Amino acid sequence: MSALEASSNPDLAQLRVFGGQSVPDLTERICQTLGLRKADAMVDQFPDGECTIKLEDDVRGKDCFVVQSTCPPVNDHLMELLVFIDSLRRASADRITAVIPYFGYARQDRKSEGRTPITAKLVANLLTTAGVHRVLTMDLHADQIQGFFDIPLDHLTAAPVLGSFFKDLNMDNIALLSPDVGNIKTANRYATQLGGELAVIDKRRQSGDSITAARLIGDVKGKSVLIFDDMITTGGTAASAAKLAMDYGAAEVCMGATHPVLVNAAVNKLNAAEFSHLAVTDTIPVPQEKQDRLKNLKILSVAGLMGEAIKRIHEDKSISALFSEWNSGR
Ligand code: R5P
Repeated sequence: MSALEASSNPDLAQLRVFGGQSVPDLTERICQTLGLRKADAMVDQFPDGECTIKLEDDVRGKDCFVVQSTCPPVNDHLMELLVFIDSLRRASADRITAVIPYFGYARQDRKSEGRTPITAKLVANLLTTAGVHRVLTMDLHADQIQGFFDIPLDHLTAAPVLGSFFKDLNMDNIALLSPDVGNIKTANRYATQLGGELAVIDKRRQSGDSITAARLIGDVKGKSVLIFDDMITTGGTAASAAKLAMDYGAAEVCMGATHPVLVNAAVNKLNAAEFSHLAVTDTIPVPQEKQDRLKNLKILSVAGLMGEAIKRIHEDKSISALFSEWNSGR
């Protein structure tokens, strides 16, 4: 019996969970929820920057998962994931699932103007060409990215984790504010879960890091306003939504977002927005220095959800059953 099998949950002896360098803590937490030791691999770089990987555990005939968010540095993490998949394929893994808690490039999901790429589709092609059999991901920027893959893709949501956090705060007189029109469906589902009225911002984006929040539709006066989004990148959307809510008379504003990308001046913008609560998840690590500076920050783990999804995929069980409570609005 190998060291891996000796230290593992015996029901999961055929399962191997590897991790790239992007989310080491989340990978460890996922393995803990599964009662597994993380499978060993040496991830290294040649002096010229090329990535290389040596799998230290036997994967022949095994059901292999690689956890890697394609967060900044996006291209390094993406390439590392592709090299991981190639290593597993050449080492005769039976099945390879890319677990991508945060799927980078997702915002390039269509030609926004002439002579531009659809890079989310290119990434899907790269993963498939590398040899991945399945993808497990969370809160894609747009649901339709699922269709860029011709292999099974399981799309999780962090909504039960974020929703429970805010539910436990027992706020009353709340309004769910969608930061843009495309996010109304999500805000509506949170409204069903948490109660409260729905409001929406008519957001106009000027460029990648510049937002003009034009107007707010709905009633937020005197209310605790909750804003949920898939990601916070530069913080522009979150900050302008919070400002608009306060301008329209909100009593306080709180924010929940799955992916804390947090680039450029995001920390300053979020602090200036004065959120009473700012909850994000561990799909992307937040450096300690940013954690120390960000006011009222709470980082919630999605390891339980991810671990259970991996177990269910391994055992050929339903994933949607994981979200039945959330979907029914209870
Ligand atoms: C936009 O459609 C997304 O859902 C987010 O609102 C956006 O990507 C956040 O980016 P930023 O923080 O740079 O405004």
